[in-house]
Parts: sequence; C-alpha cells; structure tokens
Amino acid sequence: MLHDTIAVIDFGGQYAHLIATKVRRLQVYAEIRQPDDPIELYRPYKGIIISGSPSLSAFGEDSTYTKAIYDLPIPILGFCFGHQEIAKHYGGRVIHGGKEWGHTDLHICAESPIFRGLHLKEQVWMSHFDTVAEVGPDFVEIGYSKLGAAGSEHRFAAIASEKLRRYGFQYHPEVDDTLRGEMMIGNFVLGICGCRPTWTMGNYVEEQILRIRERVGGGSVFLLASGGVDSTVTAKLLGMALGPDRLHLLHVDNGLMRKDESRTVVEMFRAHGFGQNLHFVDASENFLEALRGLVEPEQKRLAIGNTFVEVFEREARRLGIEHHLLGQGTIYPDTIETGGTRRADTIKTHHNRVPLIEEMIAAGRIIEPLAELYKVEVRELGERLSLSKDLIWKHPFPGPGLGVRLLCSTGQPDTTDFDRMIPEIGAAVEGYGLAAAILPIRSVGVKADLRAYEHPVLLTGQPGWEQILEAAGKIFRDVYGINRALWNLGPGSPHSFRPLPATVTRERLDLLREADHLVMTGIQRHGLTDEIWQCPTVLVPLEIDGRGRELVIIRPIRSERAMTASAARLPDELIAELRRDILALPGVSGLALDVTSKPPGTIEWE
Ligand code: XMP
Repeated sequence: MLHDTIAVIDFGGQYAHLIATKVRRLQVYAEIRQPDDPIELYRPYKGIIISGSPSLSAFGEDSTYTKAIYDLPIPILGFCFGHQEIAKHYGGRVIHGGKEWGHTDLHICAESPIFRGLHLKEQVWMSHFDTVAEVGPDFVEIGYSKLGAAGSEHRFAAIASEKLRRYGFQYHPEVDDTLRGEMMIGNFVLGICGCRPTWTMGNYVEEQILRIRERVGGGSVFLLASGGVDSTVTAKLLGMALGPDRLHLLHVDNGLMRKDESRTVVEMFRAHGFGQNLHFVDASENFLEALRGLVEPEQKRLAIGNTFVEVFEREARRLGIEHHLLGQGTIYPDTIETGGTRRADTIKTHHNRVPLIEEMIAAGRIIEPLAELYKVEVRELGERLSLSKDLIWKHPFPGPGLGVRLLCSTGQPDTTDFDRMIPEIGAAVEGYGLAAAILPIRSVGVKADLRAYEHPVLLTGQPGWEQILEAAGKIFRDVYGINRALWNLGPGSPHSFRPLPATVTRERLDLLREADHLVMTGIQRHGLTDEIWQCPTVLVPLEIDGRGRELVIIRPIRSERAMTASAARLPDELIAELRRDILALPGVSGLALDVTSKPPGTIEWE
C-alpha cells in the first residue's frame, strides 16, 4: 500500500462510511472491508476499526466474520457492536439490556494513549441495547457512563488492553454529537497505529496522474460526461494526465436530463477548455425505446445502464475510437453499495454498475479515477483543480436522471395492510391537528440497512414545521409499513387516490421537467442552492379525488454524504409560488412536500 491505511469493517448502516470519512480527514487513507473478507486482505493495514451495527447483536448467537483479525499484530478498535465483540472475544461478557440512547457523559477513569488530550468528562453519543457486563483478564475499564437518577448504574463505556493494543468504545466517536470523537479516532490512528498523515488531495492528484498514465499507456480514454461534479472532475484529471488529444468526452442526452441541461453542460465543457474532442449525441429515442412498457425500478435502471453502454459503443465506432478505455466518474459509495459489496441485499443498483459495465471492468476496459473518493473529497479535489464553484457545488443528480423520479405503475392499487395501518396512524398523529391518508403505492426506503418498498402517508393540516417532523417520526416508529411522510400542499384534505397505469413517456418526462425546473429555479431565486444538498422532484401517476393524473412531490434535503439525510425546510413564500405554478400545470392532481429523513426513506423514490 502506498499510504498507511486503516481498514474499517462494515457491519451495516452508515457507521463504517462515517468512520472512514473521519479517518481520511486526518489525512490517513481508510478503506471499507466486508466482515467476511479473507484474512489476507486484512494483513496490509496499520490498524482495524470495527463499526457498529444497526441489526447485529454481540449478545447471543455468535456473529460470523473473519475472527482471525484478532491474531494480527496490529491495533484494533471497536465501536458499539465492535466494542462488544472485542470484549466478548477476549473473555468478557455481553448482556442483553442496559440500553442507552443519545447524549451521554463519558467519565474517563484511567490513563490511556487513546484518551490523550481529553478531559475527564466528555460528551459522547450512545445508541445501544446490549451492554458489556464484564471484561476479560487482559482488559481494564478506561471510561464509564452512569445511568439512573442517582447515577447508580454503571456501564463500561470504554475498555482497553494496552498490552494487546485492543480498544472498545460503547459510544460512537464517528458522529458529530460525540464532541471530541475525532480526537479519540486521531489518537488511535496517528498515535497507537502510528499512521503517517500522507493522504492529501495534493498527493492524490499527483498519484492519480501517474496511475492514469500507467493504465492508459499509449491509448486514449472516452469519458461519459454527464456534467455533474464527478464526471467533470474526472475529465479534468484525465485531461491533466493525458492531454487534450487523448481524451474524448461524450455527453449523451438520454432524454432524462433536466430542462436545458444538455445544452448547458456542453457549453460548460467548452468553457472549461474541453472543446477539442467534445461529442454530443441526442439518444433520447434510444432510451425511451429501452424503457418502453417498464414499471419496475430496477428494470428501468438496468435498461438505462445498458443503453448508455450501447450508445457509447455505437458512438465510439462512429468516431473510430472503439479501442479506447471507457472513463466513468464513479465514486466510492457507488462501488460499496452495489458491486463492491457481497452483502446480498444491496441498497440500489447504480447505473454504472450494471452487469455490462461489470463485464467491462473485469475485462480491464474501464477507468474510474475517483473510485476511492467520497463526494466531499471529490468537491475538495474540484476546488484544488480550479473548477468553478457553481460546478463543484451543483446538486448531485443520479445517473439514470429523471428516470428514477418518474414513478411508473400497472394501475393496480396496493392497499396491503391498510386496515391495520389506518387506526395506527390515526393514533400516532392524534393531537397534531393533521388528517392522514395512506397512498396506495410504494416507494423505496432503508430499514435496518435493507431496502424496503413501503407506503407513503399524506398529511394535511398546518401544525407547523417542527410538529410535522415530530408527527412523521412518530408514524415511522409506531406504524410498520410506512416509510415516507408527505405534507400536502394541494387544496383540501384529499381522501380518494387511484393509481393510473403509467410508464416512461416523453409527455410525462416533459411534465416532470417543467415541475423540476420550477422547483430548481425557485431554490436559486431564494438563495437556497448551498443550503439544500439535493432536491428531487418526483411524479407519481395518481388520480386524486377523481381529478388529474400526476401527484408532484418535492423532496428538499440536507445531507453531507447522501448516506443519511433530513428534510430541508422551504420558505413559505417559495412554497406559495410553487403551489401556484405547479398546481397549474396540465394533468397535475396534487402537490406534496416529502418531509422524510433517510432512514427510513431514501433520497430518491425508487
Ligand atoms: P438514495 O436514493 O439511495 O440516494 O438515498 C443516495 C444518492 O445517490 C443518488 N442516486 C443515484 N445515483 N445512480 C446514480 O448515479 C442511481 O441509480 C442512483 N440512485 C440514487 C441520489 O440522487 C443521492 O444523491
């Protein structure tokens, strides 16, 4: 390995990514590893961090993972589930119960290099059901938390074996609510593991340029350039490594772009000096044809991904450059969430990981210079490479574009479990002054790290923003089968909903494009582009109270890494403008604001 590197074992949820990002901020490279990765893969690291887990428990049945890591002579640190596993492995005992949740005081009670520079009391964040009740002979307690009114109950919050260089924290130092978590992680990574902080963006650029030159040899690269920050930073890096002659950019209008997007993207690439080998193709007919009649989200993604490859190959042949490598702006989470992981239930198939692309990767025909980076790091790199601020901070847009925001339906209402859910929802929203209706359709979300297609609930009323979020939280907690809450911005309190048969058509796309344009220009006009991380607009083929064909949903979110997200509030004035303009579009049956956090809802609707 070029740099001293830390392995983060991913036991689910977003924990491992958060940990890896925190380690990388220390300028030490961190990689995500899967629990069942063979021991050989673990040997080159300078240290291992075992993540928490939203679904596994260290209590009871033994978890399966590569336990030979404990025989390696490198330091290991575990958080939450990882902490309990370490305690258990070395002769400690984990019991069911002893739950702690939220901000907690950590009382440091022994000297340890892992707590260097910290106070005797530190605010940490807890989220656990099981607890370490006893530690093995080589271990000592180095920090505890207190429970109960008089603080009479005592919990192992941090344990250590300095001899074995094994450490465990019951709390999560990787979340910002643990105020000095970064310092603790730094003590482990830089101090105990002795990693040298060499992983800087400056070094990254130099190393990538060398790597690209080595990979491409005397050849050239043909890059699919959507115009988002990932593909543009990729273009810039490839251009620096290969020079303008050996880089061909292809921008494909797949018909799933935002209004005027393709024109703007082509102009932007020209302005950034990529004019020489810039190709543009309007392939919207090919994509529409591939999507014809499809309803299932994953089939749509596959069709879009495959059509990209077909169009790319056709264009490459037309231009006589079919032997070039295919460049993609794939970033780290995309490789982890799908192809890169062996966890069977993947969150989502990304279009740049469809089987055809996987085959090309296996054949060595793909080059992805950002495949190791998180989005924040790509943006940092973009700044370093002097790309314009507008471009770097442009909202992320999914590869399959509006294709995953245009919900399709067979027209069959899905009312499974409504009889059970209706009274449960009624109980959950009692006292909030809200009318609630379940929509007879489903959208994707995340539940205990798995994908789940569940129902949205539409809430009508004006109780205020905080109350709406609170009511939504209660519904998610109390009602099984609901993963989204929508705040009705349409007139009245609708009660009858009929899904209509619908697939991807140019007319529907044009309507979505128009609604999306109104939303995006509204966000710009109100100066919210930086504050809002992303704002999908979604079309659901739903007749409401016997009227209209399409329910429009606006999903403004705040996020850092897209791994988790919370609903972003829009100003009343903007809401009034959108209500006026979107409800006036032909065929629109209603308008709603998606106020769901991730989890339980994903950012996109399918
Ligand atoms: P979710 O919906 O999983 O989205 O919360 C997380 C981030 O990924 C983007 N996204 C995609 N990007 N191909 C992409 O290139 C896809 O199929 C895809 N699905 C979701 C989404 O816009 C968000 O930024």
